[in-house]
Amino acid sequence: MRALISRDLPAKALDTVRAVAEVSVWPHNRPPTAQELVEHAADADGILCLLTDRIDDALLSALPKLRIVSQMAVGVDNIDLQACANHGVAVGNTPGVLTDTTADLAVALLLATARRVCEGERFLRAGEWTTWSPMLLAGAEVHGATIGIVGMGRIGFEVARRAAGFKMRIVYTSRSPKPDAERLFGAERRSLSELLAESDFVSVHTPLSSETTGLIGAAELAAMKPSAILINTARGAVVSQRALYDALKNGRISAAGLDVFEREPIPMDDPLLTLPNVVMLPHIGSATVATRTRMAQIAADNLAAGLQGLPMPHPVALPVRMRAQ
Ligand code: NAP
Ligand code: GLV
Repeated sequence: MRALISRDLPAKALDTVRAVAEVSVWPHNRPPTAQELVEHAADADGILCLLTDRIDDALLSALPKLRIVSQMAVGVDNIDLQACANHGVAVGNTPGVLTDTTADLAVALLLATARRVCEGERFLRAGEWTTWSPMLLAGAEVHGATIGIVGMGRIGFEVARRAAGFKMRIVYTSRSPKPDAERLFGAERRSLSELLAESDFVSVHTPLSSETTGLIGAAELAAMKPSAILINTARGAVVSQRALYDALKNGRISAAGLDVFEREPIPMDDPLLTLPNVVMLPHIGSATVATRTRMAQIAADNLAAGLQGLPMPHPVALPVRMRAQ
């Protein structure tokens, strides 16, 4: 059996796959292009991929032997799940293990934007700090503020837990009610428009799907308080980036903390980079050594199990297979 691993991983994870297959590891610190992926995965029974790899019908058609796709991430929006179902390819991902780590980063962005942490650091390093003054870098209050959690799933729930610890009031939207969050953190379910109007902070935690692409656009940003702060650690395209720039530039909202972007890496000429009231990070929500090591191991375990015809520990539910036209 053969497997392609689309980036170098911790040795233990590589060994897990090597125990059941002949492994080839993509040797560069950049994603393979679509053509390179086809070439390097030729004859592969399984691929361990990253969220930067596009797994679509064209790729699957070019790799008829492929049976398993194991993603080292929880989000699988880079994978065409319908195409995988149609080609009889099973998919695995790494849910749960990164939940707390990503929730921590969402809160880090919330605190950084509210309390102007990055602005303050830039100010100090630029030698502009001449005196303590009453309103110097005065930011927004966190305790007592209302946070609106869009998508009360695993990560949203852990953000709610942390927000409750900061004495925040919590409102949320989700497709289904979340009685545990309501009971444990006093969270109250709202429509999206109610949540936007009420919240001092809006934190986005839905997967990227056809339903959530552009979920927060110009109208939604206009519905937020002018003092509100938007945090996005989900996927860039859940928020319209152009509309967000306009809203930040024109003071329709106060600030944003972003770990994810419509295009990653964000192009250095993106207008967002000209704004002082945005804190931007390079998609590092789950980036602690321990969590990334665990994610690599789960992805390896999924791939090794699938290659041996065993159930993957963390399979992704696929849509119903559609007949070829
Ligand atoms: P999850 O447990 O599946 O939670 C997703 C939540 O979104 C669910 O509660 C779901 O509602 C809700 N939802 C889905 N569609 C919705 C819609 N149209 N409107 C409102 N709510 C909707 O997923 P998770 O593990 O928390 O991860 C969430 C996402 O975070 C991932 O898909 C990934 O894209 C992103 N992520 C980013 C990083 C990073 O490094 N920045 C790290 C990890 C994850 P129901 O429960 O009612 O179905
Ligand atoms: C990271 O963005 C993930 O989806 O795991």
